[in-house]
Amino acid sequence: MKRPIAELWGTGRYTPKRVMTNDEFSKILDTSDQWIRERTGIRERRVAGPDESNACMAKAAAEQVLQDTGITPLDLDALVVATCSPDRLLPSQACDLQALIGAKHAAAFDVQAACTGFLYALNVAEGLVASEQAEHVLVVASEKLTSIMDWSDRTTAVLFGDGAGATLVRKSTDGRGMLSSYMRSDGTLAELLYRPGGGAAHPPSEELLKDHSYYIHMAGREVFKAAVLSMADACDKALERAGLSAGDIDLLIPHQANIRIIEATAKHAGVPMDKVYVNVDRYGNTSAASVAIALDEAVRCGRLKPGMKVMFCAFGAGFTWASLVVQW
Ligand code: UT7
Repeated sequence: MKRPIAELWGTGRYTPKRVMTNDEFSKILDTSDQWIRERTGIRERRVAGPDESNACMAKAAAEQVLQDTGITPLDLDALVVATCSPDRLLPSQACDLQALIGAKHAAAFDVQAACTGFLYALNVAEGLVASEQAEHVLVVASEKLTSIMDWSDRTTAVLFGDGAGATLVRKSTDGRGMLSSYMRSDGTLAELLYRPGGGAAHPPSEELLKDHSYYIHMAGREVFKAAVLSMADACDKALERAGLSAGDIDLLIPHQANIRIIEATAKHAGVPMDKVYVNVDRYGNTSAASVAIALDEAVRCGRLKPGMKVMFCAFGAGFTWASLVVQW
């Protein structure tokens, strides 16, 4: 099928009110603002409070998209939520969001591809539009990672933050939309970044809480290496499939995990840093929500304008990685 088939229409985001600085972490963990900034580029992150559930954040981001586009909840044919930190394991986060916004005519389901979830969900949405199953697909990426991270583990706690971002996918108009996409995964690397307990294999128990296996575990250095390789592969493939070169890209919006990974990705892709959107300093790693939040910021601050070509790339647990080139 000839692309573009589908376009992204309207954006939205929600980030929790509470800002937590690196200095606050240095009061509860053996860490420092200097270490965190130098090794990750993070200065602060947002931490959702008890009244800011995954669903509430998703709803706030979704409502901005509806406002932007003039689409009503009843016009939505499908609602796809990318998350690895749902409010509850059953039913899906998407069904809870559907009830909250009153999208009565939509099919609702989650996509779990960790930090790559937003890009996977956009691909699924494009497929729904291409097969004419759906005219309007709301794609939301929402994470409350601070509820599943180990606050006593300095190797992970300082990295993550909460938030949500969203967009709507519909049939392409005027040549706008997704010019290329690429998705990959490698399940043999699962245990580099995972939550060992809490699922059906190791259901909740006192033991599980005691040994912290309910929380995110990560082999940071190995993840770093795999991330640099997979982000490079993602950029190469998206450009190749779009028949474009780095010079054609007006803005690169990479997954915001670590400034060093972002810089290595940009260097490999041949995109100068002044064409790379960075907000990891303000939000840390918000997993699936990271690219979605950055997209909304880039649109609202005028960095991403109609007519531009934007490339998205992400990697995450699984391992999963993906990329997209979009004519905005
Ligand atoms: O979305 C995907 C999610 N994950 C990622 O993207 C993470 C990818 N990995 C990374 O970003 C980096 O590997 C980290 C930021 C996690 C770690 O940076 P690093 O430069 O790879 O450090 P390291 O793991 O090699 O650790 C170096 C030292 C260790 O101490 P020793 O063994 O040298 O004495 C760590 O224990 O830094 C220590 N360390 C810390 N020190 C102060 C680890 N975390 C901290 C900390 N504060 N928060």
